[in-house]
Amino acid sequence: MALADYINNKPVIETNRLIIRKMVSSDIPVLREWMPDKSIYTYWGKGPSKAERNPELLFEKEEKPTKSFHLGIAEKNSGKVVGDIWVYLIENDRMAQIAIRLSKDIHGKGYGTESLSAMTSFCFDHTELQRLWTEVDVRNIASCRMLEKCGYTKEGLIRQGKMVNTWCDYYIYGILSTDKRA
Ligand SMILES: CC(C)(COP(=O)(O)OP(=O)(O)OC[C@H]1O[C@@H](n2cnc3c(N)ncnc32)[C@H](O)[C@@H]1OP(=O)(O)O)[C@@H](O)C(=O)NCCC(=O)NCCS
Repeated sequence: MALADYINNKPVIETNRLIIRKMVSSDIPVLREWMPDKSIYTYWGKGPSKAERNPELLFEKEEKPTKSFHLGIAEKNSGKVVGDIWVYLIENDRMAQIAIRLSKDIHGKGYGTESLSAMTSFCFDHTELQRLWTEVDVRNIASCRMLEKCGYTKEGLIRQGKMVNTWCDYYIYGILSTDKRA
């Protein structure tokens, strides 16, 4: 299927332990447990928004069809949505940015690597996207390591390019559809 085919029909991506899927209003109680947690926003570039502090607001308006993917990451065992992942700012159906965050409770269990790797493969195997990239605060060791494990290349360093309380340095990481993946 092409990227355009997913506008109204968001994908469901399954891994060993996780299901990456559209979030629904029945996920609200679980989202309330972790989405407002300020500690996951340390390197995010901004703190939790009003909707992230009150996840019910995410479902108030009917979602407009968009080519970007914003999906929940649910544990198969518990069914709980423990994180979310975006593919956004898609340019010419060819390249896009990617971002992921997970509940603090489940950091370090390999879920980040598992879901980023699956989403990356989905984009390259099932859509026209040829390049995915992201910006990562240089202090965000877990994110850098996760990206490298998924086959992303550290392409550059932007010095004092982002304001997170103070001016911060960040890396650009990118992967092409032709690159070796994890
Ligand atoms: C970035 C994030 C998604 C990583 O998810 P995760 O499930 O904890 O990561 P994984 O368990 O897959 O670990 C990936 C690697 O990072 C390492 N790592 C994880 N947390 C770490 C930490 N706090 N310090 C150093 N290394 C760490 C792991 O050991 C693993 O490397 P290894 O296999 O060589 O041991 C998660 O930390 C997060 O949600 N952070 C807050 C939001 C955020 O910053 N998102 C990224 C924005 S670019």
